[in-house]
Amino acid sequence: MVSIALDGPAGAGKSTLARAAAEKLGYIYVDTGALYRAVGLKFSREGHGTELDCDIEKILEDTSVDIRFIGKEQHVFLDGEDVNSLIRTPEISMMASAVSAKPPVRAFLLELQRKLARENNVIMDGRDIGTVVLPDATVKVFVTATPETRANRRYKELTEKGMSVNYDDILSDIKTRDYNDSHRAVAPLKVAPGGIVFDTDDLGFEAALDSLMKIIEKGVNQ
Ligand code: DC
Repeated sequence: MVSIALDGPAGAGKSTLARAAAEKLGYIYVDTGALYRAVGLKFSREGHGTELDCDIEKILEDTSVDIRFIGKEQHVFLDGEDVNSLIRTPEISMMASAVSAKPPVRAFLLELQRKLARENNVIMDGRDIGTVVLPDATVKVFVTATPETRANRRYKELTEKGMSVNYDDILSDIKTRDYNDSHRAVAPLKVAPGGIVFDTDDLGFEAALDSLMKIIEKGVNQ
């Protein structure tokens, strides 16, 4: 099986690029952030905030997270419920970042991710795919851009969905999440050994996709 690991900070364009590249290659696209978001939703539903002042393992014992593909679209199920439409809010973004720093949560989601890559050709996007989940991935890419570029993209994406959001809040959330994601003790966000850094700052979508496809093709054919 071929696996492409696409890591990088929030809003770098990973998911849009990964979805389009997967389509071109005929691979499945796995958005691992959605798994952490589903766990974040669970803790939020249990009445907890980002301080997570609770027995995490006990809550996880009563939690099931699964991915199913409906057409080519990934749907995440939390305790049997399709929660795709509930996990993209700013509140759940912060909850996902908080739960993702907890080792039991990372351990809880690890096997599901590895199983998907064992059984399918995948493009998997996340923070630790090349470093922890699939250290033997065929190609490892670290997609990045400045916080301001990323905040702009996220602002556009959310307002296009009809959500009422504030640019400064998004930028500040992105900076907080960058800090949390790259300073946590377990599986921090960093470039994997053998990873290729891909800066999308000055690239429009088509140019970025073009460059990414070249990186992937070169890596797969090596
Ligand atoms: O990619 P995203 O914004 O949907 O991810 C939500 C949060 O989940 C993000 O703050 C970091 C965390 N995450 C992670 O720790 N590891 C992954 N493989 C994917 C996401």
